[in-house]
Amino acid sequence: MHRIDGLPDHVTIYEVGPRDGLQNEAAILPVDVKAEFVERLVDAGLTTIETTSFVHPTWVPQLADASDLLTRLERRPGIRYPVLVPNERGLDRALEHGVTEIAIFGSATETFAQRNLNRTVDSQFEMFAPVVSRALESGVRVRAYVSMCFGDPWEGPVPIARVVEVGMRLLDLGCFELSLGDTIGVGTPGHARALIESFPCGPGPLAVHFHDTYGQALANTLEALRCGVTVVDAAAGGIGGCPYAESATGNLATEDLVWMLHGLGIETGVDLGSLVDTSSWLARRLGRPSPSSVVRALSKEP
Ligand code: HMG
Ligand code: MG
Repeated sequence: MHRIDGLPDHVTIYEVGPRDGLQNEAAILPVDVKAEFVERLVDAGLTTIETTSFVHPTWVPQLADASDLLTRLERRPGIRYPVLVPNERGLDRALEHGVTEIAIFGSATETFAQRNLNRTVDSQFEMFAPVVSRALESGVRVRAYVSMCFGDPWEGPVPIARVVEVGMRLLDLGCFELSLGDTIGVGTPGHARALIESFPCGPGPLAVHFHDTYGQALANTLEALRCGVTVVDAAAGGIGGCPYAESATGNLATEDLVWMLHGLGIETGVDLGSLVDTSSWLARRLGRPSPSSVVRALSKEP
């Protein structure tokens, strides 16, 4: 194990496999398999698991069983189970299940705001504002995502100033954390640094969410850590993508992230062998091999 100066001692892994991972799979898994997936992630040492989405069920049929999943899931003390919520209808559904943490998701670009939320960039805030205020009144913490932080498949490169403006408006609603989404995985480390350094709030409330379309997710994450970010989104096995973003592929694989962090002497609390077993198990259920390099290297299966 070899340390590099200037990196944090601890990184919080925000696991998005059950939500971002499963929302983009052709196969819709049975709800008991999803519940087992979440349980296995907890057993592997993950403590923050974005579990599902309370979006419109016809927009994302893969997660239409959100209520059923939360009813079945045994939520363990000390583990965070945030869910994605776009609007008040979604919040009502989440509150019925005693959810204590939600995530709203905004877009930095007009085209993606329209395609993903059926809103303009401006009108997405009218949708989110009452969600955040009602959630906070109910004692529910709210994270925000901003998508298309680096490039957009329809609009091309996205100006940093626009991402910062949308991101700060989301934080100013009362969100405790802002996750910077490279939805289509086009970002590179210098761009990641420039973006993070442009936020007037500093790195404290920022998290990073890299998709790995161009193989840059781990390099971008390392640069984000060097900038002071300590919360990193990743999906077990590298599954994931967005059904409303052309060319969005898998997330940074949690196993690839854990391998790097442990190699750097940064503790995560994750048992890598157990996580690899989980991703191999899930790959069998999804009917396709895991795209994660570390899963392929460590899997005991042929
Ligand atoms: P809309 O059609 O504008 O909805 O969709 P509406 O507000 O006009 O309502 C129409 C009907 O839908 C109403 O029913 C509502 O009750 C119902 P009616 O009165 O006609 O019978 N409805 C709902 N039902 C259940 N749950 C709800 C809900 N909302 C409305 N929550 C909406 C607007 C936001 C709902 C829609 O666009 C939507 O669901 N979008 C979600 C898309 C999505 O989930 N995308 C993937 C997640 S984002 C992502 O992956 C990126 C991320 O990973 C970060 C990154 O990588 O960058 C986070
Ligand atoms: Mg994503």
